[in-house]
Amino acid sequence: MNDDIIVQTKDLVRSFEFGETEVFALNGVDIDIYRGEFACILGPSGAGKTTLLNMIGGIDYPSKGEVIVDGDNISEYNKDELNDYRRDSVGWVFQFFNIVASLRAWENVGLALEFQGLKDKSEIKSRSFDLLKKVGLEGKELRFPSQLSGGEQQRVAIARALVKKPKIIVADEPTGNLDFVTGQKIAELIRDLNKQEGTTLIAVSHDISITQYADRVLHLKMGKIEKIEEQPDSIGYKKVRE
Ligand SMILES: Nc1ncnc2c1ncn2[C@@H]1O[C@H](COP(=O)(O)OP(=O)(O)OP(=O)(O)O)[C@@H](O)[C@H]1O
Ligand SMILES: [Mg+2]
Repeated sequence: MNDDIIVQTKDLVRSFEFGETEVFALNGVDIDIYRGEFACILGPSGAGKTTLLNMIGGIDYPSKGEVIVDGDNISEYNKDELNDYRRDSVGWVFQFFNIVASLRAWENVGLALEFQGLKDKSEIKSRSFDLLKKVGLEGKELRFPSQLSGGEQQRVAIARALVKKPKIIVADEPTGNLDFVTGQKIAELIRDLNKQEGTTLIAVSHDISITQYADRVLHLKMGKIEKIEEQPDSIGYKKVRE
């Protein structure tokens, strides 16, 4: 596989049995994701976006076809291998943030550091504060999620996703639960982090306003890629392709 490609799907199919009928959430998806790019998969509700992310992020197995990540066919992994891959190599960002309500902002990040095996309490705290600064939350480290706005909670979730220095970050509707302006700021933050850290970012959305920040837009409709748009004006595009 071309070394510039970090994720490749080959004839990816995921279907669900529904009584007598079979629903095809993905129906033959072939995509390449370039190392270091910000790829946005755009499509209407029901297009198969979450299903595709779940295949790439190691949450679920395809019915047919392959997902190759860094040369490994993760569709052939057993359950334990797939869990390890998901835990160690993939950073997740969700629409509803999925941060722990009873933990302060820094503790949410700290918990992820602990999962990574970091034990020293003061190091956990200082690294958490550093990561929160990176996402623009300096001074708000001690707040609980309920004391943060939606956009700020998403920033905590993004800081948490950065903890493991993942190979890829997958984001499922990262702006879906935010107002327009806040959503734009989050898309901008994701793009900036993607360029600074060089982490490959795959976001799925039905929100067209996020696409201006992406290097490429892959249009998904009824389980198939309809077209791929390159965004030569986007920052980072040249870095990825030259
Ligand atoms: N576990 C399941 N069992 C049966 N059908 C499913 C299952 N998961 C997804 N589907 C179906 O597969 C199709 C794609 O679902 P998916 O969740 O990937 O869409 P999506 O593009 O993420 O939509 P949304 O924008 O609403 O989140 C839908 O028709 C959905 O009903
Ligand atoms: Mg979805």
